[in-house]
Amino acid sequence: MADPKIQPRRDEDMNACVDALAAVHKADGYPVTWPSDPARWLTPDGLLEAWAALDGRAALGHLAITRTSPELARGTGLPAGQLASVARLFVTPPARRYGVAQALLDTAEAAAAARGLRLVLEVEDGGKAAISLYERIGWRHVGTAPGDWTTVDGRTALMHAYLAPVRIP
Ligand SMILES: CC(C)(COP(=O)(O)OP(=O)(O)OC[C@H]1O[C@@H](n2cnc3c(N)ncnc32)[C@H](O)[C@@H]1OP(=O)(O)O)[C@@H](O)C(=O)NCCC(=O)NCCS
Repeated sequence: MADPKIQPRRDEDMNACVDALAAVHKADGYPVTWPSDPARWLTPDGLLEAWAALDGRAALGHLAITRTSPELARGTGLPAGQLASVARLFVTPPARRYGVAQALLDTAEAAAAARGLRLVLEVEDGGKAAISLYERIGWRHVGTAPGDWTTVDGRTALMHAYLAPVRIP
């Protein structure tokens, strides 16, 4: 696979990011329901920064960071104002297992650290690849709670919260 470039998402990257999201939705049901406005979905409320992993004009991956809700902050023991949440992380099926998600997370961790923030995220119980990734790179499980939505296989979502480690530069 070509070595994708991780860069801040620009307006002109949006169509490629939506195409990548469509491939992920088809393969994995992520997101469970295809959004009526996918570009808006890729721009969640409280957005701080977003990155795309680009191979030429094609997007192979995407990650955003947002402000953190007090509910998600609670399990971390840290105030929401000291955290940023990972959102909209995905990699297209042919680009997987080449370290693209890890590179996106490294970029996001560095950007959050530059703002004095630590990363946190929520992952649904069925997201086994994502859970393996977070645990492999040292994120700590800080809580589990039922979600307010139903998974593709008809379960009530079970959301696990993970907190990024503090990395000494
Ligand atoms: C989860 C996801 C982002 C991982 O992307 P990726 O680019 O393939 O991940 P990486 O190549 O950086 O993986 C690094 C490590 O994570 C773990 N990992 C990744 N995918 C895995 C899988 N399918 N099974 C087990 N471990 C996995 C491995 O430890 C891997 O290292 P290795 O390949 O040397 O064994 C991708 O599978 C995806 O987009 N899934 C659908 C959307 C999703 O679940 N998003 C997260 C929502 S919280």
